[in-house]
Amino acid sequence: MRVVLLGPPGAGKGTQAKMLEDELNIPQIASGDLLRIAVRNKSALGQEARRYMERGALVPDELVLRMIEERLQQRDTQGGFVLDGFPRTLAQAEALRLTLERAGGPLDLVLALLVSDEEVVRRISGRRTCRTCGAIYHLIFDPPRNINVCDRCQGELYQRDDDAEETVRNRLATYHRQTKPLLDYYERQGLLRSIDGQERMEAVHERIMAALGAAAQRA
Ligand code: AP5
Repeated sequence: MRVVLLGPPGAGKGTQAKMLEDELNIPQIASGDLLRIAVRNKSALGQEARRYMERGALVPDELVLRMIEERLQQRDTQGGFVLDGFPRTLAQAEALRLTLERAGGPLDLVLALLVSDEEVVRRISGRRTCRTCGAIYHLIFDPPRNINVCDRCQGELYQRDDDAEETVRNRLATYHRQTKPLLDYYERQGLLRSIDGQERMEAVHERIMAALGAAAQRA
């Protein structure tokens, strides 16, 4: 399956993408994670991207596109993938469409996780992420056994730099202005399926699996 997860910051894209990765045995390709690795490594891409990420703006399309196109050329994507956080602009969506068309494997489904702005703020303020394996927790909704330690790999849990309240508000505004138009774009192509993202994680996952099952039957 070739799937895109769309949604505002904190909607649960990463959480659901990891569940799909485990269940369907296809890789999660998270543009935000790839950019954070580049920032940590202080690569040329990372140093450029950091200036945008720290204020909650989008990294320029050409930088993100080069990074994702390289990732899509890796062998593990041949059986499908879950794109998490990409595309985020109409230009990115069009470039993705052309890339996949050339490779002969178009998208099967685009899942939009619908979550209110208030819920986004609640979720992001309680999020903790593992520095080592990337596992995602929430201090109330999905707490780790020990507040600073990852249950899975014992790595250190941290709060992302861009999760400060003012930056989250900028990220939300960016989502509404630049990414939300993609819902119409994919609706027109008959690829969009909206999912109520406000429910419990397991319930959201069940709805996603049902939508993927229906798409597989149609194919
Ligand atoms: P990115 O890392 O992609 O951030 P985001 O889209 O803002 O999304 P998040 O990672 O914050 O949230 P999520 O939806 O994955 O939610 P999660 O599962 O963690 O991007 C960061 C930055 O990089 C951008 O601002 C931009 O600068 C740049 N960037 C990235 N991609 C780009 C692109 N394509 N183009 C240009 N720039 C780009 O869940 C959040 C919390 O809620 C967790 O604590 C979790 O445990 C909890 N939770 C999840 N589901 C539920 C549930 N159902 N109920 C209760 N709690 C839940």
